[in-house]
Amino acid sequence: MRKPFLAGNWKMNMDAASAVALAKGVVAEVGQVDGVDVAVCPPFVYLQSVAAALSSSNVALGAQDVFHQPNGAFTGEISCTMLKDVSCSYAIIGHSERRHIIGETDALINKKIHAAIAGGLLPIFCVGELLEERQGGKTDQVVADQVKKGLEGVCEERILAVTIAYEPVWAIGTGVNATPQQAQEVHAMIRGLIAKMYNKTIADAIRIQYGGSAKPANTAELMSQPDVDGLLIGGASLKAADFGAMIKASMK
Ligand code: 13P
Repeated sequence: MRKPFLAGNWKMNMDAASAVALAKGVVAEVGQVDGVDVAVCPPFVYLQSVAAALSSSNVALGAQDVFHQPNGAFTGEISCTMLKDVSCSYAIIGHSERRHIIGETDALINKKIHAAIAGGLLPIFCVGELLEERQGGKTDQVVADQVKKGLEGVCEERILAVTIAYEPVWAIGTGVNATPQQAQEVHAMIRGLIAKMYNKTIADAIRIQYGGSAKPANTAELMSQPDVDGLLIGGASLKAADFGAMIKASMK
């Protein structure tokens, strides 16, 4: 039985005061929740103050990215050690906005996943197809390719550190979520692929989140799908009441 895992990706939003207020709001809503794993992923600059606001709650902290080198001349980048130092447990890696706006490649994403696991962070590894790829019937091929390349060389002993997040790019921030059936189809495909790459025990244990216009109104239906183990939530995670409602609706 996979424990549901919901994470809020705050993206490039909030300021110092509103980040702390939101974190406190999340703690007030679901701070002591234990049937669901919960994380929030604020911008780097607010990690420390959000960590303080989350202390003594069950809400974990995640970063929105991580660099694969431990330290050195990498202007603007943030290492695993630094993220651990400010109490991060998770790091989102390979988000579609980083793939398509910043230009991150599968090879770079793979390096980041290796570095994160080695450094004791739990990657939330994002994959997902563009609208034209879905319309061209290429969803499975694109997503499978991203999964294989992103996880290349990640061994059996380490793979369960990873949560996979299926985020169809056309559903992100558009208000148009994948239907529960569309999400389930891709999640089942990913789980089957993990069974082939690793084994059935690992495939049965790995958690696969859905992301893309998830909101309180569609949470129960998305979460009712057998292979949807959680949500990676953008816009709706910026309101503590909505995020809290989604967590409460996900207690399977
Ligand atoms: P929205 O929930 O705003 O569509 O964003 C999803 C997402 O990209 C989470 O990482």
